[in-house]
Amino acid sequence: MATLKLHDQQGQLIHSASEIRRFLEQRGILFEQWEASQSLQDSDSQETVLAAYQHELTPYMEKHGYLNADVINVHKETPNIEEIRQKFLAEHTHDEDEVRFFVDGAGEFFFHLDEVFSLLCTAGDFISVPKGYKHWFDLAPRYHVKAIRVFQTKEGWVARYTGSDIAKKYLT
Ligand SMILES: [Fe+2]
Repeated sequence: MATLKLHDQQGQLIHSASEIRRFLEQRGILFEQWEASQSLQDSDSQETVLAAYQHELTPYMEKHGYLNADVINVHKETPNIEEIRQKFLAEHTHDEDEVRFFVDGAGEFFFHLDEVFSLLCTAGDFISVPKGYKHWFDLAPRYHVKAIRVFQTKEGWVARYTGSDIAKKYLT
């Protein structure tokens, strides 16, 4: 279950799924919660994970023209985990929407629109970060993310760094 943090409003936290959804919707960000059609184990293959969410994933992909889906799985023992974290920890944009569904673990998306807010995503949370939106992502402190990603093109998801060091101000 996600938590929304309003950094420019004394760090106010919002836990209500409907409030979070409304807040994000007003800013053009799609947020949903999905349930698996079967229970999953840590050791399940990418195909099993994708199959468990196919009832949500396939209609979404067809509606929005996505062709590819995969599962990313990083954890504390992943080689170069801190390097992986740093790669997404500077403010950037993408040329296509960044779509993630959290199967397990946790990670925090920070958005820099008129204000800065962040969404801590955990299992069951689906989010689509619109193309061109300035954002960054922090794997810490849990260093475990198992997430479904969907792509229009692999190239579309390359990070375009803005050169701003704003993310450093929000590190905890
Ligand atoms: Fe990104």
